[in-house]
Amino acid sequence: MIFVTGGSGFIGSNYIIRTLGNTNEKILNIDKLTYAGNPDNLISVVDNPHYQFAHADIGDIKLVTKLIKKYKPKKVINFAAESHVDRSILGPSEFIHTNILSTFNLLECMRSYFSEMNDKERVDFRFLHVSTDEVYGSLKENESPFDEHNQYKPNSPYSASKASSDHIVRSYNKTYGLPVITTNCSNNYGPFQFPEKLIPLVINNALSGKKIPIYGDGGQIRDWLYVDDHCDAINEVLNKGKVGETYNIGGKNEKTNLELVKFICSSLDRLKPKENGMQYEEQISFVEDRPGHDRRYAINSEKISKEIGWNPIESFESGIAKTIQWYLSNNEWIENVKSGAYLDWINKQYGNQE
Ligand code: NAD
Ligand code: TYD
Repeated sequence: MIFVTGGSGFIGSNYIIRTLGNTNEKILNIDKLTYAGNPDNLISVVDNPHYQFAHADIGDIKLVTKLIKKYKPKKVINFAAESHVDRSILGPSEFIHTNILSTFNLLECMRSYFSEMNDKERVDFRFLHVSTDEVYGSLKENESPFDEHNQYKPNSPYSASKASSDHIVRSYNKTYGLPVITTNCSNNYGPFQFPEKLIPLVINNALSGKKIPIYGDGGQIRDWLYVDDHCDAINEVLNKGKVGETYNIGGKNEKTNLELVKFICSSLDRLKPKENGMQYEEQISFVEDRPGHDRRYAINSEKISKEIGWNPIESFESGIAKTIQWYLSNNEWIENVKSGAYLDWINKQYGNQE
Protein backbone atom coordinates (compact mmCIF):
# COMPACT_ATOMS: atom_id res chain seq x y z
CA MET A 1 0.00 0.00 0.00
CA ILE A 2 1.21 3.49 -0.94
CA PHE A 3 -0.14 6.56 0.82
CA VAL A 4 -0.58 9.41 -1.63
CA THR A 5 -1.33 12.71 0.09
CA GLY A 6 -3.01 15.48 -1.91
CA GLY A 7 -4.09 12.90 -4.48
CA SER A 8 -7.21 14.82 -5.47
CA GLY A 9 -5.20 17.77 -6.80
CA PHE A 10 -3.67 18.23 -10.22
CA ILE A 11 -0.47 16.16 -10.09
CA GLY A 12 -1.67 13.72 -7.42
CA SER A 13 -4.73 12.67 -9.42
CA ASN A 14 -2.67 12.20 -12.57
CA TYR A 15 -0.22 10.17 -10.49
CA ILE A 16 -2.94 7.92 -9.06
CA ILE A 17 -4.64 7.27 -12.40
CA ARG A 18 -1.32 6.52 -14.11
CA THR A 19 0.06 4.32 -11.32
CA LEU A 20 -3.12 2.28 -10.93
CA GLY A 21 -3.14 1.82 -14.71
CA ASN A 22 0.49 0.73 -14.99
CA THR A 23 1.18 -1.20 -11.80
CA ASN A 24 -0.37 -3.51 -9.24
CA GLU A 25 0.05 -1.01 -6.38
CA LYS A 26 -2.70 -0.33 -3.87
CA ILE A 27 -3.16 3.36 -3.11
CA LEU A 28 -4.79 5.26 -0.26
CA ASN A 29 -5.37 8.89 -1.23
CA ILE A 30 -5.34 11.17 1.82
CA ASP A 31 -6.78 14.53 0.86
CA LYS A 32 -8.35 17.40 2.77
CA LEU A 33 -10.26 18.50 -0.36
CA THR A 34 -9.38 22.17 -0.29
CA TYR A 35 -10.58 24.31 -3.23
CA ALA A 36 -7.80 22.59 -5.28
CA GLY A 37 -8.83 19.04 -4.41
CA ASN A 38 -11.46 17.74 -6.77
CA PRO A 39 -13.07 14.29 -6.42
CA ASP A 40 -14.16 14.53 -10.09
CA ASN A 41 -10.51 14.07 -11.09
CA LEU A 42 -10.62 10.50 -9.81
CA ILE A 43 -13.99 9.35 -11.15
CA SER A 44 -12.22 6.91 -13.50
CA VAL A 45 -10.64 4.99 -10.59
CA VAL A 46 -13.22 5.32 -7.86
CA ASP A 47 -14.42 1.73 -8.33
CA ASN A 48 -10.94 0.28 -8.74
CA PRO A 49 -10.41 -2.18 -5.84
CA HIS A 50 -6.81 -0.97 -5.54
CA TYR A 51 -7.93 2.60 -4.82
CA GLN A 52 -9.20 4.05 -1.54
CA PHE A 53 -9.85 7.55 -0.33
CA ALA A 54 -9.58 9.11 3.12
CA HIS A 55 -10.92 12.61 3.61
CA ALA A 56 -8.25 13.85 6.01
CA ASP A 57 -5.82 16.66 6.73
CA ILE A 58 -2.15 15.57 6.74
CA GLY A 59 -1.79 17.77 9.82
CA ASP A 60 -4.34 15.71 11.77
CA ILE A 61 -2.00 13.47 13.78
CA LYS A 62 -4.78 11.41 15.33
CA LEU A 63 -6.48 10.58 12.05
CA VAL A 64 -3.26 9.98 10.10
CA THR A 65 -2.01 7.66 12.87
CA LYS A 66 -5.27 5.73 12.64
CA LEU A 67 -4.84 5.38 8.89
CA ILE A 68 -1.23 4.22 9.33
CA LYS A 69 -2.27 1.57 11.85
CA LYS A 70 -5.05 0.34 9.57
CA TYR A 71 -3.16 0.27 6.25
CA LYS A 72 0.55 -0.01 7.22
CA PRO A 73 1.89 1.83 4.15
CA LYS A 74 5.19 0.74 2.62
CA LYS A 75 5.66 4.07 0.91
CA VAL A 76 4.33 7.61 1.26
CA ILE A 77 4.29 10.25 -1.47
CA ASN A 78 3.57 13.71 -0.15
CA PHE A 79 1.90 15.90 -2.78
CA ALA A 80 -0.39 17.71 -0.31
CA ALA A 81 0.30 21.44 -0.27
CA GLU A 82 -1.02 24.86 -1.04
CA SER A 83 0.51 25.35 -4.49
CA HIS A 84 -0.42 28.67 -6.09
CA VAL A 85 2.09 31.54 -5.89
CA ASP A 86 -0.47 34.31 -6.41
CA ARG A 87 -2.66 32.99 -3.59
CA SER A 88 0.42 32.87 -1.35
CA ILE A 89 1.01 36.56 -2.03
CA LEU A 90 -2.54 37.57 -1.12
CA GLY A 91 -2.79 35.16 1.85
CA PRO A 92 0.44 33.52 3.03
CA SER A 93 -0.95 32.12 6.28
CA GLU A 94 -2.52 28.97 4.77
CA PHE A 95 0.79 28.22 3.05
CA ILE A 96 2.76 28.38 6.28
CA HIS A 97 0.13 26.30 8.00
CA THR A 98 -0.19 23.53 5.42
CA ASN A 99 3.20 23.39 3.76
CA ILE A 100 5.23 23.71 6.95
CA LEU A 101 3.20 22.79 10.02
CA SER A 102 1.01 20.09 8.52
CA THR A 103 3.98 18.52 6.72
CA PHE A 104 5.77 18.52 10.07
CA ASN A 105 2.82 16.72 11.68
CA LEU A 106 2.81 14.16 8.89
CA LEU A 107 6.52 13.58 9.42
CA GLU A 108 5.95 13.12 13.13
CA CYS A 109 3.39 10.40 12.37
CA MET A 110 5.86 8.72 10.02
CA ARG A 111 8.70 8.96 12.53
CA SER A 112 6.62 7.21 15.13
CA TYR A 113 5.49 4.54 12.62
CA PHE A 114 9.08 4.00 11.44
CA SER A 115 10.35 3.57 14.98
CA GLU A 116 8.05 0.57 15.42
CA MET A 117 9.04 -1.21 12.19
CA ASN A 118 11.18 -4.32 12.00
CA ASP A 119 14.47 -4.24 10.06
CA LYS A 120 13.00 -5.55 6.81
CA GLU A 121 10.17 -3.01 6.87
CA ARG A 122 12.66 -0.22 7.55
CA VAL A 123 14.76 -1.17 4.51
CA ASP A 124 11.74 -0.99 2.21
CA PHE A 125 10.03 2.11 3.62
CA ARG A 126 10.24 5.43 1.72
CA PHE A 127 8.84 8.92 2.30
CA LEU A 128 8.98 10.84 -0.98
CA HIS A 129 8.43 14.57 -0.63
CA VAL A 130 7.29 16.30 -3.81
CA SER A 131 8.77 19.78 -4.06
CA THR A 132 9.44 22.49 -6.58
CA ASP A 133 12.30 24.18 -8.43
CA GLU A 134 10.97 27.49 -7.05
CA VAL A 135 12.91 26.89 -3.80
CA TYR A 136 16.09 27.86 -5.68
CA GLY A 137 14.80 31.36 -6.48
CA SER A 138 15.33 33.12 -9.78
CA LEU A 139 17.99 32.66 -12.49
CA LYS A 140 19.47 35.33 -14.73
CA GLU A 141 19.28 34.63 -18.45
CA ASN A 142 22.96 33.63 -18.70
CA GLU A 143 23.06 31.49 -15.53
CA SER A 144 23.26 27.69 -15.62
CA PRO A 145 20.07 25.75 -14.81
CA PHE A 146 19.50 24.75 -11.17
CA ASP A 147 21.23 21.58 -10.07
CA GLU A 148 20.86 19.85 -6.69
CA HIS A 149 23.71 21.93 -5.21
CA ASN A 150 22.17 25.34 -5.84
CA GLN A 151 21.52 27.41 -2.75
CA TYR A 152 17.91 27.73 -1.65
CA LYS A 153 16.76 31.34 -2.25
CA PRO A 154 12.95 31.29 -2.25
CA ASN A 155 11.22 34.56 -3.16
CA SER A 156 7.49 33.97 -2.61
CA PRO A 157 5.66 32.79 0.51
CA TYR A 158 4.80 29.65 -1.52
CA SER A 159 8.40 28.82 -2.38
CA ALA A 160 9.61 29.78 1.10
CA SER A 161 7.08 27.43 2.68
CA LYS A 162 8.11 24.61 0.34
CA ALA A 163 11.79 25.32 1.04
CA SER A 164 11.06 25.13 4.73
CA SER A 165 9.31 21.78 4.38
CA ASP A 166 12.21 20.47 2.27
CA HIS A 167 14.60 21.31 5.12
CA ILE A 168 12.40 19.67 7.74
CA VAL A 169 12.07 16.55 5.57
CA ARG A 170 15.87 16.44 5.19
CA SER A 171 16.36 16.77 8.93
CA TYR A 172 14.11 13.76 9.58
CA ASN A 173 16.54 11.67 7.56
CA LYS A 174 19.71 13.07 9.14
CA THR A 175 18.35 13.05 12.69
CA TYR A 176 15.94 10.14 12.87
CA GLY A 177 17.04 8.03 9.91
CA LEU A 178 13.63 8.29 8.23
CA PRO A 179 14.21 7.11 4.61
CA VAL A 180 13.20 10.28 2.79
CA ILE A 181 13.81 11.40 -0.78
CA THR A 182 12.89 14.84 -2.12
CA THR A 183 12.16 15.74 -5.74
CA ASN A 184 12.27 19.33 -7.00
CA CYS A 185 10.32 19.66 -10.21
CA SER A 186 9.72 22.44 -12.72
CA ASN A 187 6.30 23.75 -13.84
CA ASN A 188 3.88 20.96 -14.75
CA TYR A 189 1.00 21.08 -17.21
CA GLY A 190 -1.65 18.63 -18.38
CA PRO A 191 -5.20 17.42 -17.61
CA PHE A 192 -6.96 18.33 -14.33
CA GLN A 193 -4.90 21.46 -13.63
CA PHE A 194 -6.98 24.06 -11.81
CA PRO A 195 -7.61 27.04 -14.12
CA GLU A 196 -5.87 29.54 -11.82
CA LYS A 197 -2.48 28.37 -13.19
CA LEU A 198 -1.18 29.85 -16.42
CA ILE A 199 -1.84 27.16 -19.04
CA PRO A 200 -5.42 26.17 -18.13
CA LEU A 201 -6.22 29.82 -17.41
CA VAL A 202 -5.10 30.81 -20.92
CA ILE A 203 -7.08 28.01 -22.56
CA ASN A 204 -10.17 28.78 -20.52
CA ASN A 205 -10.04 32.56 -20.98
CA ALA A 206 -9.32 32.23 -24.70
CA LEU A 207 -12.32 29.96 -25.23
CA SER A 208 -14.58 32.10 -23.04
CA GLY A 209 -13.69 35.26 -24.98
CA LYS A 210 -12.03 36.84 -21.94
CA LYS A 211 -8.78 38.77 -21.67
CA ILE A 212 -5.64 36.64 -21.34
CA PRO A 213 -3.59 38.32 -18.60
CA ILE A 214 0.20 38.43 -19.01
CA TYR A 215 2.07 39.67 -15.95
CA GLY A 216 4.65 42.40 -16.61
CA ASP A 217 6.41 42.08 -19.98
CA GLY A 218 5.77 38.33 -20.33
CA GLY A 219 9.52 37.71 -20.62
CA GLN A 220 9.66 35.44 -17.55
CA ILE A 221 10.91 31.96 -18.34
CA ARG A 222 9.59 28.67 -17.02
CA ASP A 223 10.69 25.10 -17.82
CA TRP A 224 7.51 23.18 -18.68
CA LEU A 225 7.08 19.45 -18.04
CA TYR A 226 4.11 17.32 -19.05
CA VAL A 227 2.54 15.91 -15.88
CA ASP A 228 2.83 12.22 -16.91
CA ASP A 229 6.59 12.65 -17.21
CA HIS A 230 6.66 13.99 -13.65
CA CYS A 231 4.57 11.05 -12.40
CA ASP A 232 6.91 8.57 -14.09
CA ALA A 233 9.92 10.35 -12.59
CA ILE A 234 8.39 10.04 -9.12
CA ASN A 235 7.89 6.29 -9.53
CA GLU A 236 11.43 5.85 -10.84
CA VAL A 237 12.85 7.80 -7.90
CA LEU A 238 10.68 5.86 -5.48
CA ASN A 239 12.08 2.58 -6.79
CA LYS A 240 15.67 3.50 -7.63
CA GLY A 241 16.47 6.74 -5.77
CA LYS A 242 18.98 6.87 -2.93
CA VAL A 243 17.66 7.58 0.53
CA GLY A 244 18.51 11.08 1.80
CA GLU A 245 19.09 12.40 -1.73
CA THR A 246 17.28 15.07 -3.71
CA TYR A 247 16.54 14.87 -7.45
CA ASN A 248 15.77 17.75 -9.79
CA ILE A 249 13.17 17.00 -12.47
CA GLY A 250 12.71 19.20 -15.54
CA GLY A 251 11.40 19.22 -19.06
CA LYS A 252 14.27 20.92 -20.96
CA ASN A 253 11.53 23.18 -22.28
CA GLU A 254 12.38 26.77 -21.41
CA LYS A 255 9.82 29.20 -22.78
CA THR A 256 8.96 32.80 -22.02
CA ASN A 257 5.38 33.23 -20.85
CA LEU A 258 4.62 35.25 -23.96
CA GLU A 259 6.01 32.55 -26.28
CA LEU A 260 3.98 29.93 -24.45
CA VAL A 261 0.75 31.91 -24.50
CA LYS A 262 1.14 32.76 -28.20
CA PHE A 263 1.80 29.08 -28.94
CA ILE A 264 -1.39 28.06 -27.14
CA CYS A 265 -3.36 30.78 -28.95
CA SER A 266 -2.16 29.67 -32.38
CA SER A 267 -2.88 26.02 -31.52
CA LEU A 268 -6.42 27.04 -30.56
CA ASP A 269 -6.74 29.00 -33.84
CA ARG A 270 -6.20 25.69 -35.63
CA LEU A 271 -8.18 23.41 -33.31
CA LYS A 272 -11.14 25.65 -32.55
CA PRO A 273 -11.12 28.70 -34.86
CA LYS A 274 -13.12 31.68 -33.64
CA GLU A 275 -16.39 32.18 -35.46
CA ASN A 276 -15.66 35.87 -36.06
CA GLY A 277 -12.37 35.04 -37.85
CA MET A 278 -10.27 36.84 -35.22
CA GLN A 279 -7.20 35.28 -33.59
CA TYR A 280 -7.08 34.28 -29.90
CA GLU A 281 -3.81 36.23 -29.54
CA GLU A 282 -5.84 39.44 -29.80
CA GLN A 283 -7.25 38.66 -26.33
CA ILE A 284 -3.78 39.01 -24.73
CA SER A 285 -3.66 41.82 -22.19
CA PHE A 286 -0.53 42.95 -20.32
CA VAL A 287 -1.34 43.49 -16.64
CA GLU A 288 0.56 44.60 -13.55
CA ASP A 289 3.44 42.30 -12.67
CA ARG A 290 3.38 39.83 -9.75
CA PRO A 291 5.40 41.19 -6.77
CA GLY A 292 8.68 39.31 -6.32
CA HIS A 293 8.11 37.64 -9.70
CA ASP A 294 10.93 35.17 -10.42
CA ARG A 295 12.41 35.90 -13.84
CA ARG A 296 13.61 32.47 -14.84
CA TYR A 297 13.53 28.85 -13.71
CA ALA A 298 15.52 26.15 -15.49
CA ILE A 299 16.41 22.66 -14.35
CA ASN A 300 19.53 20.61 -14.80
CA SER A 301 18.18 17.05 -14.60
CA GLU A 302 21.46 15.25 -15.29
CA LYS A 303 21.43 13.52 -11.90
CA ILE A 304 18.09 11.77 -12.34
CA SER A 305 18.96 11.01 -15.96
CA LYS A 306 22.37 9.48 -15.21
CA GLU A 307 21.67 7.77 -11.87
CA ILE A 308 18.11 6.63 -12.44
CA GLY A 309 17.69 6.64 -16.21
CA TRP A 310 14.66 8.94 -16.28
CA ASN A 311 14.22 11.41 -19.14
CA PRO A 312 11.07 13.23 -20.24
CA ILE A 313 9.23 11.57 -23.11
CA GLU A 314 6.63 14.14 -24.10
CA SER A 315 7.74 16.97 -26.40
CA PHE A 316 6.44 20.46 -25.68
CA GLU A 317 4.38 20.44 -28.90
CA SER A 318 2.78 17.03 -28.24
CA GLY A 319 2.18 17.79 -24.54
CA ILE A 320 0.46 21.10 -25.27
CA ALA A 321 -1.63 19.51 -28.03
CA LYS A 322 -2.77 16.73 -25.64
CA THR A 323 -3.53 19.28 -22.92
CA ILE A 324 -5.59 21.53 -25.19
CA GLN A 325 -7.49 18.52 -26.53
CA TRP A 326 -8.23 17.42 -22.97
CA TYR A 327 -9.64 20.82 -22.00
CA LEU A 328 -11.66 20.97 -25.23
CA SER A 329 -13.17 17.54 -24.51
CA ASN A 330 -13.81 18.13 -20.81
CA ASN A 331 -15.88 21.25 -20.76
CA GLU A 332 -18.06 19.89 -17.97
CA TRP A 333 -15.02 19.48 -15.69
CA ILE A 334 -14.07 23.12 -16.30
CA GLU A 335 -17.60 24.41 -15.76
CA ASN A 336 -17.81 22.47 -12.46
CA VAL A 337 -14.55 23.86 -11.07
CA LYS A 338 -15.39 27.37 -12.24
CA SER A 339 -18.06 27.82 -9.61
CA GLY A 340 -17.92 29.13 -6.04
CA ALA A 341 -14.40 29.40 -4.68
CA TYR A 342 -12.85 29.73 -8.13
CA LEU A 343 -15.04 32.67 -9.08
CA ASP A 344 -14.27 34.42 -5.79
CA TRP A 345 -10.56 34.04 -6.48
CA ILE A 346 -10.71 35.28 -10.07
CA ASN A 347 -12.68 38.34 -9.01
CA LYS A 348 -10.16 39.08 -6.25
CA GLN A 349 -7.13 38.64 -8.51
CA TYR A 350 -8.27 40.10 -11.82
CA GLY A 351 -11.44 42.04 -11.01
CA ASN A 352 -14.78 41.04 -12.47
CA GLN A 353 -14.31 40.77 -16.24
CA GLU A 354 -17.88 39.83 -17.06
P1 NAD B 1 -2.80 21.26 -6.23
O1 NAD B 1 -2.97 22.57 -5.54
O2 NAD B 1 -3.49 21.03 -7.53
O3 NAD B 1 -3.25 20.08 -5.25
C1 NAD B 1 -2.94 20.05 -3.90
C2 NAD B 1 -3.79 18.97 -3.23
O4 NAD B 1 -3.41 18.89 -1.86
C3 NAD B 1 -5.29 19.24 -3.27
O5 NAD B 1 -5.98 18.07 -3.61
C4 NAD B 1 -5.62 19.65 -1.84
O6 NAD B 1 -6.95 19.35 -1.45
C5 NAD B 1 -4.61 18.83 -1.06
N1 NAD B 1 -4.30 19.39 0.27
C6 NAD B 1 -3.96 20.67 0.57
N2 NAD B 1 -3.74 20.78 1.89
C7 NAD B 1 -3.91 19.54 2.43
C8 NAD B 1 -3.82 19.01 3.74
N3 NAD B 1 -3.48 19.79 4.79
N4 NAD B 1 -4.05 17.70 3.93
C9 NAD B 1 -4.40 16.90 2.89
N5 NAD B 1 -4.52 17.36 1.62
C10 NAD B 1 -4.28 18.65 1.39
O7 NAD B 1 -1.23 21.07 -6.37
P2 NAD B 1 -0.39 20.34 -7.52
O8 NAD B 1 -0.12 21.31 -8.60
O9 NAD B 1 -1.01 19.05 -7.82
O10 NAD B 1 0.98 20.13 -6.74
C11 NAD B 1 1.19 18.96 -5.94
C12 NAD B 1 2.55 19.06 -5.28
O11 NAD B 1 3.56 19.20 -6.26
C13 NAD B 1 2.69 20.28 -4.35
O12 NAD B 1 3.41 19.89 -3.22
C14 NAD B 1 3.48 21.28 -5.18
O13 NAD B 1 4.25 22.12 -4.37
C15 NAD B 1 4.35 20.35 -6.00
N6 NAD B 1 4.77 20.88 -7.31
C16 NAD B 1 3.84 21.36 -8.17
C17 NAD B 1 4.26 21.81 -9.44
C18 NAD B 1 3.26 22.34 -10.45
O14 NAD B 1 3.68 22.84 -11.50
N7 NAD B 1 1.97 22.23 -10.21
C19 NAD B 1 5.61 21.76 -9.79
C20 NAD B 1 6.53 21.23 -8.87
C21 NAD B 1 6.10 20.79 -7.63
P1 TYD C 1 1.85 29.87 -12.60
O1 TYD C 1 1.10 28.92 -13.49
O2 TYD C 1 1.10 30.57 -11.51
O3 TYD C 1 3.10 29.06 -12.02
P2 TYD C 1 4.38 29.60 -11.16
O4 TYD C 1 4.14 30.96 -10.69
O5 TYD C 1 4.41 28.60 -10.06
O6 TYD C 1 5.55 29.49 -12.09
O7 TYD C 1 2.52 30.97 -13.50
C1 TYD C 1 3.43 30.63 -14.53
C2 TYD C 1 4.00 31.92 -15.08
O8 TYD C 1 2.95 32.64 -15.74
C3 TYD C 1 4.54 32.86 -14.01
O9 TYD C 1 5.69 33.53 -14.55
C4 TYD C 1 3.41 33.87 -13.81
C5 TYD C 1 2.79 33.96 -15.17
N1 TYD C 1 1.34 34.22 -15.20
C6 TYD C 1 0.82 35.25 -16.03
O10 TYD C 1 1.58 35.95 -16.73
N2 TYD C 1 -0.52 35.45 -16.05
C7 TYD C 1 -1.38 34.71 -15.29
O11 TYD C 1 -2.61 34.95 -15.32
C8 TYD C 1 -0.85 33.65 -14.46
C9 TYD C 1 -1.76 32.81 -13.61
C10 TYD C 1 0.51 33.45 -14.46
